[in-house]
Amino acid sequence: MKRKLLSLSLAAVLALSLTACGGGGNSTTTTDSTDTAATEDTDAEETTETADSGEVANADKPLVWFNRQPSNSSTGELDMAALTFNDNTYYVGFDANQGAELQGTMVKDYIEANIDTIDRNGDGIIGYVLAIGDIGHNDSIARTRGVRSALGTGVDADGSINSEPVGTNTDGSSTIVQDGTLEVNGTTYTVRELASQEMKNSAGATWDAATAGNAINTWSASFGDQIDVVVSNNDGMGMSMFNAWSKDNSVPTFGYDANSDAVAAIAEGYGGTISQHADVQAYLTLRVLRNALDGVDIDTGIGTADEAGNVLSSDVFTYNEEQRSYYALNVAVTADNYQDFLDSTVVYEPVSNQLDAETHPTKNVWLNIYNAADNFLSATYQPLLQKYDDLLNLNVEYIGGDGQTESNITNRLGNPSQYDAFAINMVKTDNAASYTSILSQ
Ligand code: BGC
Ligand code: CA
Repeated sequence: MKRKLLSLSLAAVLALSLTACGGGGNSTTTTDSTDTAATEDTDAEETTETADSGEVANADKPLVWFNRQPSNSSTGELDMAALTFNDNTYYVGFDANQGAELQGTMVKDYIEANIDTIDRNGDGIIGYVLAIGDIGHNDSIARTRGVRSALGTGVDADGSINSEPVGTNTDGSSTIVQDGTLEVNGTTYTVRELASQEMKNSAGATWDAATAGNAINTWSASFGDQIDVVVSNNDGMGMSMFNAWSKDNSVPTFGYDANSDAVAAIAEGYGGTISQHADVQAYLTLRVLRNALDGVDIDTGIGTADEAGNVLSSDVFTYNEEQRSYYALNVAVTADNYQDFLDSTVVYEPVSNQLDAETHPTKNVWLNIYNAADNFLSATYQPLLQKYDDLLNLNVEYIGGDGQTESNITNRLGNPSQYDAFAINMVKTDNAASYTSILSQ
């Protein structure tokens, strides 16, 4: 209901601003266009208060990068020009190293706890396969390293663990990984990464769940009884592999994201997942914009309680001032605690209080999701954003990309002057300038 009202006022504002600047022919997609037919009353005040955008230069408007941190996809080096684009620029993500370590430890703990049954062909080798999301995405790289590090299969490359895919390594001869050893109850087992590959489809979309489903079919057909564990950089790919093969073969499968379907699957043998606290990230994504638009201290409603009582405690996030980055902390979700994580779209209770519409008048935000088909972003992150946008009085226009080209998204940022702030999820972490160049025009 609230969303309908907000959408209505967006429509009104769009109409107003289009007339005001005389700009026609703009191809901006409005997500809830059917709502314009509704006959609910609009809040006249909200409407007038949002109509003042145009005055601030687009380059000076609040900007938040989220989920894909501006960085060099080969070296991981942060793109500080993008992260400091203006005084109100931030990144919101999660602590990739802490999460990666948790995921690796979760898998290792599971193997140790189930050592009597895990080695399916009894050859003394615990074999696993790994689905890699995007070889140039720093979060994906961290997860690959975390798993290899915990299982002892990592090989050093220039001071950190090599994160390249091995292709297949059923005989243990790869130089990208090594055989690890696990000592449990006095017996020494070998741990081997049998296969890994980047799950990229032919059109170029990464983290591709369907590609992962095909990969497990191929792998299992040629060396299925060697596979004792399936690990994935995310739940989208993990669930695809679970449904295609591991569920029927009782092979524990581990993912990342704690999407609702993956958490529910723990009851059916999915091994576990990691919550990257999307409920905290989605809040932070919009909250930093809200604070910048309100001209208040950036910590308001974050580390410092706002007047509505919203506040985050230090056990769920960290802020790195130098990197202009907020990082949510991760939590392992396993058979022990999954009941508490069954719905990944519930707002985080400590930051679930509605802001007052007088002191925090409605503002218009342009926000894109790099790939509308991404499981985590579409099934977990966006539903959360849509709840927080109401609580924070933000009128968000959601743009879903195709996951392949930046231009597919930037084409829909044709008139940035219509918006008060921007939230950006790039296709590739290197491509921040594709967006900032538009805002700088
Ligand atoms: C998520 C993945 C998702 C990716 C998109 C990651 O944080 O874990 O599931 O595909 O973001 O950028
Ligand atoms: Ca085995």
